[in-house]
Amino acid sequence: MINLILFGPPGSGKGTQAVGLAEKYGLVHISTGDLFRSEMGADTELGKQAKAYISKGELVPDEVTVGMLKNKVEAHPEANGFIFDGFPRTIPQAEALDTLLTGKGTSISGLIALDVSEQEIVNRILNRGKTSGRLDDNDEGIIRNRIAVYEQETAPVFDHYAQSGKSWKIDGMGSIDEIFARLCARIDTFQ
Ligand code: C5P
Ligand code: MG
Repeated sequence: MINLILFGPPGSGKGTQAVGLAEKYGLVHISTGDLFRSEMGADTELGKQAKAYISKGELVPDEVTVGMLKNKVEAHPEANGFIFDGFPRTIPQAEALDTLLTGKGTSISGLIALDVSEQEIVNRILNRGKTSGRLDDNDEGIIRNRIAVYEQETAPVFDHYAQSGKSWKIDGMGSIDEIFARLCARIDTFQ
């Protein structure tokens, strides 16, 4: 079983790469951002709650995000493993994930961070915003806030898994195929 955390700042290519990796390794891809967007699209209570944070580039409270993530994991008892994309984003989320997986007799195999420069991230997100329809992709101020939140609250998750030798960084600049090959080379070393 492989349980991968695909890590990195907003716009670093996690979602793009996760789709190909899920197919190649037979894993269930869970993007908490996509789950929130689907709840917002359906205008559910959860969606309304999430929108208040997402529209400002802030994080949805841990208990809300963790509850949603748990439901999604529980919905796939047949899974060979998971790719977590955009989760965990805080240390409490990482701790909740570790507890959830321990309860299932498994654990995180590794975390791979996509390393991309801040200017490249802003350019990629503004470009994506032309077609994504995402309310948080069109305003440079919101994008910069998402990056600041990443540095303050999310970056420590890298160190959390580094403590058990499970965090890796790869160059996230280059073509989609080049980055995919770098990711596979690392995943193939996981136990
Ligand atoms: O992962 P993605 O960039 O698609 O997430 C979009 C937004 O959803 C984030 O900027 C944040 O507001 C919210 N989010 C969150 N907690 C997560 C994942 C996403 O608050 N674990
Ligand atoms: Mg994404």
